[in-house]
Amino acid sequence: MARKFFIQTFGCQMNVYDGQRIAAMLKTYGFEQTDALSDADIIILNTCAVREKATNKVFSALGRVRRAKKPDALFGIVGCVAREAGSSAFKRIPDLNFVLGPQSYHKLPEILKNPDTKLLNIDLTGLEKFDELPQMEKSPAVAYIPIQEGCNHCCTYCIVPYTRGREVSRPFEDVVRDTIHAAKTGAIEICFLGQNVNGYKYTAPSGKTYRLSDLIQEAAKLSEIQRIRFTSSYPTEMTDDLIEMFKKEPKLLPFLNMPIQSGAPNVLTRMNRPYELNLYIDIVDKLKSARPDIQISSDFIVGFPGETEEAFEQTMAIAKKIKYINSYSFKYSPRPHTAAALMKDQIPESIKAERLAKLDSLLNEIQREFNESCIGKTMLCLCEGPDKTGKHLVYRTPYMQQCIVNNDSTNEQMANIVITDANKASLRGKVVKS
Ligand code: 5AD
Ligand code: SF4
Repeated sequence: MARKFFIQTFGCQMNVYDGQRIAAMLKTYGFEQTDALSDADIIILNTCAVREKATNKVFSALGRVRRAKKPDALFGIVGCVAREAGSSAFKRIPDLNFVLGPQSYHKLPEILKNPDTKLLNIDLTGLEKFDELPQMEKSPAVAYIPIQEGCNHCCTYCIVPYTRGREVSRPFEDVVRDTIHAAKTGAIEICFLGQNVNGYKYTAPSGKTYRLSDLIQEAAKLSEIQRIRFTSSYPTEMTDDLIEMFKKEPKLLPFLNMPIQSGAPNVLTRMNRPYELNLYIDIVDKLKSARPDIQISSDFIVGFPGETEEAFEQTMAIAKKIKYINSYSFKYSPRPHTAAALMKDQIPESIKAERLAKLDSLLNEIQREFNESCIGKTMLCLCEGPDKTGKHLVYRTPYMQQCIVNNDSTNEQMANIVITDANKASLRGKVVKS
């Protein structure tokens, strides 16, 4: 009987992608994937360290794994918590077999060869893993393609530069190869990924420099690819060639994730995000002139050290002004290896919770308004599959809203859907039959 692996992924899309590549690799070693912990011969937790809550989730999941697993199953952590915890993870959980950082997944087979050793590798070696991990045989309809690793921006709250290292852009031809592979094996939508995705910059040996706009143009040439997007963008890296893409390239979705994090100038300075609010607003205006129907989403952090009530109100004001849709907001969480964790004026948990509730309620209201404004419109949507009941299909609109339609077997993977109803969380619609 084939040996089995179990993998659970936490965190961002980059981790989801890494999880898929790890699964593809284990399959080449003859393993089958299982959803049952107690059945698995190797158990991998693919972890996120961005907030303390995410890290805690990993250690409680490890407790569950230890109770449920077969006695001789190998188990370990990979990803950002592995990088952050390093060898201390073995002290905390002595029977752990491996700890591999976000750029060392391809070393996993070493534990299969030497199951009695402890495998630790948290080097930030760069791009080696992309070459060594096998491609997926079949691509999901939405293919996430990392185009860079790490981040050079060094926001003072963020652990990513520590866990994923300095920013490295992948060679242009490698990304194009992966994009073509995804298109030929089932992808309809490409989402280029990077912590600072619009900062993508690769200079080939010929001396030619490629930017994200070049990758978008290459992907758009592929007839299988109908939708293109990218995440996550840093405001000041939004160059004119990229803004121009929103005008020129209809396959590029009219939706952009460009986190502002805070609307208060002094908080942004302390976050080491040195851009003027006016500059951010100018970029949004330029994007709107390029593509009048564009919508922006953001991430927000509330309760950053030193955030006054007035500063928080400035965040509320910018959220109202830009009318962000599909946004995420978080309570500031002090992280190891970050400058903000050492700042003296930390905000009490109760105030953070209060501010988060206020901001969430505003963002939900804006989202509901936007969703309601979609009623009566027809949008070309991508099918994600049936919902839990099987009675409905879940589609994604160009703005990443979830749209529920009745499941009748004639439905296509890409369909024009007229929106009939909306609430804060999702839309309802009907397929327009051609
Ligand atoms: N505390 C709270 N939120 C954080 N993020 C990153 N680091 C922290 C932190 N220390 C949020 C940012 C980022 C998103 C991925 O996570 O908003 O955009
Ligand atoms: Fe989490 Fe950041 Fe690592 Fe992604 S890169 S898994 S968000 S800590």
